Amino acid sequence: MSQSKSLWGGRFKAALSEAALRFSSSIDLDKTLYQEDIYGSIAHVEMLAACKILTAEESRRIRKGLKEILSEIDSGKLSLSWEKEDIHMAIEQRLIQKVGAMGGKLHTGRSRNDQVALDERLYLRAAIIEMKKLVAQFQRVLLFKSEKHFGTIMPGYTHLQRAQPILLSHHLLAYVAMLERDYERLTDCYKRVNRLPLGAAALAGTSFPIDRAMVARKLGFDSVLENSIDAVSDRDYIIEFTAVCSNIMMHLSRMSEELVLWTSQEFNFARIDDAYTTGSSIMPQKKNPDMAELTRGKVGRVYGDLMNILTIMKGLPLAYNRDMQEDKQPLFDAVNTTRECVYIMTHVYIHTKFEKERFEEELKNDFLTATEIADYLVMLGVPFRDAHSITGKIVGYCIEHHTPLSKLSLKELHKFSPKFSEDVFMLLDPLNSIEHKRSAGSTSPNEVKKQIVHWTRVLKHKK
Ligand code: ARG
Repeated sequence: MSQSKSLWGGRFKAALSEAALRFSSSIDLDKTLYQEDIYGSIAHVEMLAACKILTAEESRRIRKGLKEILSEIDSGKLSLSWEKEDIHMAIEQRLIQKVGAMGGKLHTGRSRNDQVALDERLYLRAAIIEMKKLVAQFQRVLLFKSEKHFGTIMPGYTHLQRAQPILLSHHLLAYVAMLERDYERLTDCYKRVNRLPLGAAALAGTSFPIDRAMVARKLGFDSVLENSIDAVSDRDYIIEFTAVCSNIMMHLSRMSEELVLWTSQEFNFARIDDAYTTGSSIMPQKKNPDMAELTRGKVGRVYGDLMNILTIMKGLPLAYNRDMQEDKQPLFDAVNTTRECVYIMTHVYIHTKFEKERFEEELKNDFLTATEIADYLVMLGVPFRDAHSITGKIVGYCIEHHTPLSKLSLKELHKFSPKFSEDVFMLLDPLNSIEHKRSAGSTSPNEVKKQIVHWTRVLKHKK
């Protein structure tokens, strides 16, 4: 591109070198924003005409040109190669080609600085709406599985050591609750994204009598950013969004890790359908949980996106700095990666079967109900610390004699405390242990049922 064709070539004697242009061009990435850019420009031009800054005829011709450009890009007819610097320049240059020099009036009362912030906010708004739908969909699948497996008991873990019996539904609903907070964070982030930067111009506003509120209304923004310098110089909405995505990814990575463990032969608690697993090119017996592993691995990208944008913004003087052009990569990557991962994990869960019998086997042979024995003694007046120590000794005895708790005789129990009577054996049954729980939010079937009712209602009302 020769400098005479550049939209800012006026004061320059020499053209930008090819090396510099290649280095600084962002169109490869920001062409993603072409629809947002065009819709933003259409709203801007309509406002310019309504405010009598452009004539109705000029506005009409520019809008017609912009719509044509939209379909040219849609159909791949307009080349968006690196010579174009960025998507905003590419569209404006094409407009001038189409409607003549008058097309240059489109940029009245605005700058690329507020234009790019507008495009990003429009893009992010749509991305958040879509992400919320995907998160809610995932919650529905988990809720469905919780209902389906209501009554299935499994060992609950702490430190990845068997801890206490819990309902599988309760375990799955823990993820529903986590995802709910992610959903809330998305909703909250949206509020701060949905404010209009356009009209800030380069940084100081404009002397044209523009109507920013009108543009906000046309584009569905809740309000107008009140400080023009702030409007063009911050990217905290990208930071906030990538932080929300990081949280979602962190949750997904925990679920992934669990599926990797549960589908291993060591656990064998779950089986993922062939359609969502892969084989090994060398070991015929292998069935690998790659989707879960990839999700766990992709977390690194999204955390990286957050670190990336935080670092770009750190220490930047007000207002716009070209460094900020680098915000597209973390923004787009966080949107695409998180979206893909939520989607694939939803489908992995749809296609995962839980092995009830395996849970039961593990429940039979373990000390998961040891806490019940301690609680039993406490009910009979033994201080909890003593009860804990007595129970610890009983467990030690069982380990030494290779016997599960439930197989101890009353006589053996009496060696540790005279307080035991027949009724203690009932508590050693995992089902009784679960049913014994009283506290709100606990794993007792009653409480878990309440959660199911709650989430069914909440998720029904979600769009
Ligand atoms: N491509 C630029 C970006 O994404 C657009 C804004 C450029 N503004 C400027 N004054 N050079 O940040």
